[in-house]
Amino acid sequence: MNTFEVFKLYPIAIESAKGLELTDTEGKKYLDLYGGHGVISIGHCQEDYVKAVTAQLNKIGFYSNSVRIPFQEELAQKLQKISGYSDYKLFLVNSGAEANENALKLASFYTNRSKVIAFRKAFHGRTSLAVAVTDSPAIQAPINKTDKVLWAELNDIESVKAVMDSDVAAVIIEGIQGVGGVKIPSTDFLKQLRELCSKNGSLLIIDEIQSGYGRTGKFYAHQHSGVKADIISMAKGIANGFPVGAIMINPEIPAKFGMLGTTFGGNHLGCAAALATVEVMMKNNYVDNAAKMGEYLFGKLKGHKAIKDLRGKGLMVGIETVADASEIRNRLLFDEHIFTGFSGGVNTIRLIPPLCITKKEIDRFVEAFDKVTK
Ligand SMILES: Cc1ncc(COP(=O)(O)O)c(C=O)c1O
Repeated sequence: MNTFEVFKLYPIAIESAKGLELTDTEGKKYLDLYGGHGVISIGHCQEDYVKAVTAQLNKIGFYSNSVRIPFQEELAQKLQKISGYSDYKLFLVNSGAEANENALKLASFYTNRSKVIAFRKAFHGRTSLAVAVTDSPAIQAPINKTDKVLWAELNDIESVKAVMDSDVAAVIIEGIQGVGGVKIPSTDFLKQLRELCSKNGSLLIIDEIQSGYGRTGKFYAHQHSGVKADIISMAKGIANGFPVGAIMINPEIPAKFGMLGTTFGGNHLGCAAALATVEVMMKNNYVDNAAKMGEYLFGKLKGHKAIKDLRGKGLMVGIETVADASEIRNRLLFDEHIFTGFSGGVNTIRLIPPLCITKKEIDRFVEAFDKVTK
């Protein structure tokens, strides 16, 4: 049987990794500034993480949510502490799309309303509700298309007001649009959005799947603006590669038995991976490192003649290039052995590296970028 070919693949197979270094099956080394799509937060094969996951696997890997899994409570406490959302509740799932699916469903249950406002160029995942609020008709099957989703423009509060009504359960917005090309909602806009949602009785869902978990130098990107969300979705960096997703929920939203559920979500092994990740992050102050290294990188790239626009915060960086960004990205990979991300619609190279990156690794990227854009 062959695989179902839905991805464009690079002819590279990665065999092992450590920190930000990837090694392919031919022994070639690469610098990973993509983090497997923003997933590797504390570095590949981080020692304490490997130890914790291995030890857990030798005890118990999985049991269902029909029993207490104390790990979940421990993780909730750590997340409350590191995120500053001290009284929020945690619900664990397995992926980003599933986190958004549950966030939207929960908002609809709580408000007893059926519509949602989403933003142009947003990406929220590929399951049915998540893809319905994703602004990409090509990845929506006919069954996903719905008139329950109302569209507004990022950073344009009037466009939100124009579609807001008494049946809107929630507004969903990315902390920073990732796939859309590292587009940042302004502080003013987020504050106005928060106010509008509260006034209308709609929940504010912030998708921090790519922009959260320390990536921007604060635990969640929206915390740069001082607003609070009602539900926050996360995944990617949460367990350094182990598939875990989650939502954090305003304590005013009551839980009812059966309203949400999952077989795999919150299992022992996933929790051990997530717990080890957050512990390593806290111990090494990786959120601060993201802020510092981001500043260093922005300082190095600012005013570069090959760059048309430089966007982002911390270690979520969008480099819109003057020349064809896909060509530059290919040269970075094949000539300079550096993995980066890409947002095609806006000719932008996306850097979402592990949060443990050092100045030396940034210098190597800047040197390579200079070379391939000469
Ligand atoms: C902002 C955002 N939301 C949701 C998702 C979907 O996450 P997953 O692929 O884990 O379902 C992604 C994935 O790229 C994302 O960037």
